[in-house]
Amino acid sequence: MEVKTSLLDNMIGVGDMVLLEPLSEDSFIDNLKNRFEHNEIYTYIGSVVISMNPYRHLPIFTPDKVEEYRNRNFYELSPHIYALADEAYRSLRDQDKDQCILITGESGAGKTEASKLVMSYVAAVCGKGQEVNKVKEQLLQSNPVLEAFGNAKTVRNDNSSRFGKYMDIEFDFKGDPLGGVISNYLLEKSRVVKQPRGERNFHVFYQLLSGSSDEALKKLKLHRDFSKYNYLSLDSAAVNGLDDAANFRTVRNAMQIVGFMEDEVQSVLELVAAVLKLGNIEFKPDSRSNGSDESRIKDKNDLKEMCELLGIEQSVLERAFSYRTVEAKSEKVSTTLNVAQAYYARDALAKNLYSRLFSWLVTRINESIKAQGKTRHKVMGVLDIYGFEIFEDNSFEQFIINYCNEKLQQIFIELTLREEQEEYIREGIEWTNIEYFNNAVICDLIENNKNGILAMLDEECLRPGTVTDETFLDKLSTICAEHLHFESRLSKNSKFLTDHTLPHTCFRIQHYAGKVLYRAEGFVDKNNDLLYRDLSQAMYKANHSLIKQLFPEGNPAKVNLKRPPTAGFQFKASVGTLMRNLQTKNPNYIRCIKPNDKKASHIFTDSLVRHQVRYLGLMENVRVRRAGYAFRQPYEPCLERYKMLCKRTWPHWQGPAREGVEVMMSALPVPAEEFSYGRSKIFIRNPRTLFFLEERRRQCLQDLATLIQKIYRGWKCRKHFLLLKKSQIVVSAWYRRYAQQKKYKQIKSATTVVQSYTRGWQARKLLRELKHQKRCVEAVTTISAFWHGTQARRELRKLKEEARRKHAVAVIWAYWQGLKIRREYRKFFRANAGKKIYDFTIQRIMQKYFLGLKSTLPSMSPIDKSWPARPYLFLGGVHSELRRIFHLWRCKKYRSQFTVEKKAVYEEKLEASEIFKDKKALYPSSVSQPFKGDYLEINKNPKYQKLSIAMEDKVLLADVVNKINRANGKGTARLFLLTKNSVVLADQKTGQVKASVPLPDLASVSVSTQSDGFFALKLKEGSASAVKGDFLLSSEHLIEIITKIHRMGTTAADIDISDEFLVQFKQDKVCVKFIQAVPKNGNSVSCKRKNNRLLEVSVPTTA
Ligand SMILES: Nc1ncnc2c1ncn2[C@@H]1O[C@H](COP(=O)(O)OP(=O)(O)OP(=O)(O)O)[C@@H](O)[C@H]1O
Ligand SMILES: [Mg+2]
Repeated sequence: MEVKTSLLDNMIGVGDMVLLEPLSEDSFIDNLKNRFEHNEIYTYIGSVVISMNPYRHLPIFTPDKVEEYRNRNFYELSPHIYALADEAYRSLRDQDKDQCILITGESGAGKTEASKLVMSYVAAVCGKGQEVNKVKEQLLQSNPVLEAFGNAKTVRNDNSSRFGKYMDIEFDFKGDPLGGVISNYLLEKSRVVKQPRGERNFHVFYQLLSGSSDEALKKLKLHRDFSKYNYLSLDSAAVNGLDDAANFRTVRNAMQIVGFMEDEVQSVLELVAAVLKLGNIEFKPDSRSNGSDESRIKDKNDLKEMCELLGIEQSVLERAFSYRTVEAKSEKVSTTLNVAQAYYARDALAKNLYSRLFSWLVTRINESIKAQGKTRHKVMGVLDIYGFEIFEDNSFEQFIINYCNEKLQQIFIELTLREEQEEYIREGIEWTNIEYFNNAVICDLIENNKNGILAMLDEECLRPGTVTDETFLDKLSTICAEHLHFESRLSKNSKFLTDHTLPHTCFRIQHYAGKVLYRAEGFVDKNNDLLYRDLSQAMYKANHSLIKQLFPEGNPAKVNLKRPPTAGFQFKASVGTLMRNLQTKNPNYIRCIKPNDKKASHIFTDSLVRHQVRYLGLMENVRVRRAGYAFRQPYEPCLERYKMLCKRTWPHWQGPAREGVEVMMSALPVPAEEFSYGRSKIFIRNPRTLFFLEERRRQCLQDLATLIQKIYRGWKCRKHFLLLKKSQIVVSAWYRRYAQQKKYKQIKSATTVVQSYTRGWQARKLLRELKHQKRCVEAVTTISAFWHGTQARRELRKLKEEARRKHAVAVIWAYWQGLKIRREYRKFFRANAGKKIYDFTIQRIMQKYFLGLKSTLPSMSPIDKSWPARPYLFLGGVHSELRRIFHLWRCKKYRSQFTVEKKAVYEEKLEASEIFKDKKALYPSSVSQPFKGDYLEINKNPKYQKLSIAMEDKVLLADVVNKINRANGKGTARLFLLTKNSVVLADQKTGQVKASVPLPDLASVSVSTQSDGFFALKLKEGSASAVKGDFLLSSEHLIEIITKIHRMGTTAADIDISDEFLVQFKQDKVCVKFIQAVPKNGNSVSCKRKNNRLLEVSVPTTA
């Protein structure tokens, strides 16, 4: 259930000044102080929020707090700026009313912070989504950019806004922000060239120098050192708690978010750098021959750099600092500038450059944040404008600022009264006129078009002839002499003639917030805000897009001889627009108060606060609010809060809330004139009545609390008693049960004992009887067993004796029969039976032998040497003969399978065996290799087609052999071909015949006994082939080659197998010697020429 709370709960002092009793300035300030000391920085005057600057971080701006205040009624929770923001946002969203939030107060009172809090609250509670978040982010990020360029450290505030700002945030019908428009008012541009003691120039200058990288600074032709720039005051360049470098990064980031392009940011920074450079340009007097005073630039380096930055021709700017051209209709007159005028021109240019840059920034931000396309629904304006200023030395700026505050006060009073009156009408309550001070008369003094101060100042500025601040003051003193709020020593008003607090050069205005003394000096100049045309023309000529935009009046094509509007005139116009704008909106006020001058937390300076309370007109505000009825509240929450004051409304009222309130009020001793019933609210005239209600409520709550306590305690005691009673019953039940159980167990065990004794006795008695019976039975059984045993044994003996006799009779009869038969047949057996039995036995044995041999015969392979074992000794000869016959038969069978080709192969193999077996170590390994003959497939291989054609006979063998070089023993591959008539050696690659030896020319063939493939073809001496000498060759198929040559059947093919043989190379005979060697690299045969007569072939030892 939602808990209903009220502003009146847990109040420190009073949360709404309207309820202050008694109401006086002292009690007002005491209340503020009391609340401030308890960290309650917000207090209401009706719907106006007074905000005290805490000068420290308070944990009251957290997301939790936002949630707490979201969608709650204004008076429901303790005063907070979020309550005001929520009220404004909700009435904008739900009731379609344009809102404006007017934040006023003196410098450092917290206006800017308050405006940021309002914006962040609205951002937090309004809709979400990618688009909406981007808009929110851009709106929020416009603040750091404007603060960098428009805020500065002053003695009153380290982050003082030096311009007025009004921002319209536009929302759609759902309450989602669409965009915004910012208006800026009167930037304090004099600060650019001069700052009061203890104050700084605008933040951006310090941020740029501290936060830029060395490279960026070099590009902008700047030095990091502040002391190098005349326009930067040094005594307070570093501000406590302000990190310029970090802030610069924040500003650049914010500019990016807002939508500045990189080149735009660079242009802006170039302009800032140019202002700094401008301040360093100094002049010295230079007298011309014609006697006129002239000035010259001291050191042109800064001017040069500035001109480079802005793309201005140096000579053009130099001339603009030396001459002033005045144009009047068709005439042009140029006068030289003296040193003072040159400095004036320089500063005017710097001020104008900076203030125009600032206005450009605002326009550029507006371009980014303006609502895109969608139709605008409602607007919330936030006004953060400089507060009323009273310094020791007040000039034109203070006059303008205070004028603006007068206007705001006027609108404040008007709108407050209007709202009050509207509420009375809405609620049907009679309106009573309220007395208040109307400051319209002061506004009139300043802004009246005929004889207002601003109008007179403009008149002076435009008037021909000598115009000075004194002439202006004279004029004022004459025309405003009679005005009640104007004071001057020069006026004819005798009252001030002797007033020494009023110097002759000053005038004083009685503002609504107090009297302010203005020094007339500088009014005319500042109002004129003059920038020599030569300078604006020089700026227009710049080759820099931004500068050109800032000085459009410098365009020679658009020379305008009319004077530009004065500063006062412009300001008055913009304030007028602002006021008209504000009047169309529902106002919400935040009045900021500064508790002390030291920027310190926890210090509350009475006099300072009193002064602010006075000039903000807060007392008046309370009085206006209380003039009719001090307090009002809708009927529902009123009945909810006070229903306990009347028996009929407590605890529940069934009818409408208004009737409930009426019943309740009539039951209370409150005079009828103290309250009135509106349509939806009850109006209470006096705070005393409200406090009376609150006091009665407190008492009632106390009584109710006592009653609730009483009932609760009774209920609690009874509950406790019932619990005890219930417990007691449970305990006694358990105890009785336990006792009975114990007794029962005793009786049970006693019974068991008695029972057991009895049963024992009975059982023993029975046992004895049974034992006796059993013994009797056993005795009978034993006796009968013995008796039967004796009977049985006697019978058995008798049977055994009988059986023995029968067996003896049978044996004796069998022997007798046998003897009888043998005697009868002996004569027949001896004649035939012996031989027959022998033959039969031998026949059976042979039968068995052949059958056995049949099943154990060995395989059909001729090389299978197995044969079954001999079964009988007497069959020894037969057995081996059979083995021989079987082997011959199986060989015949094997041979009969051979084809003619295979037979030839085997014949060859047989011949090889005859030649080489046991003679050459290579032979065993060749047995398993088939003799293939044509290894090169010479007829099929296209490479050897020519060679195959050249061969007349059928090629019997074609192979690749190594021809051993006689000189070094190395081998060269050659094709070796054998036909039935010749041996041919041909080139392996080309197939060209190298040598052809007819077989008859072959004398012999030599080979070694070892496992090498060397062979020498020795030729017959004197034959045609023998001219080149013998051939020493080596082949992998040596056995086959030699066998095939041998088979040719020529006599020449004698085979010589020895490890040393001679070979005829041309004229020389060389000995080829084969030795066995341990293989070194691999298992290969190597041949080396040892000397002229010896070729040594190393053959690896075979294991
Ligand atoms: N609600 C707050 N909580 C904490 N500190 C605050 C709060 N309001 C203001 N301050 C502190 O007071 C300082 C001055 O506040 P702010 O700049 O808002 O004053 P201002 O009224 O805008 O002054 P000016 O008229 O010079 O611009 C802030 O820099 C901040 O340190
Ligand atoms: Mg400010």
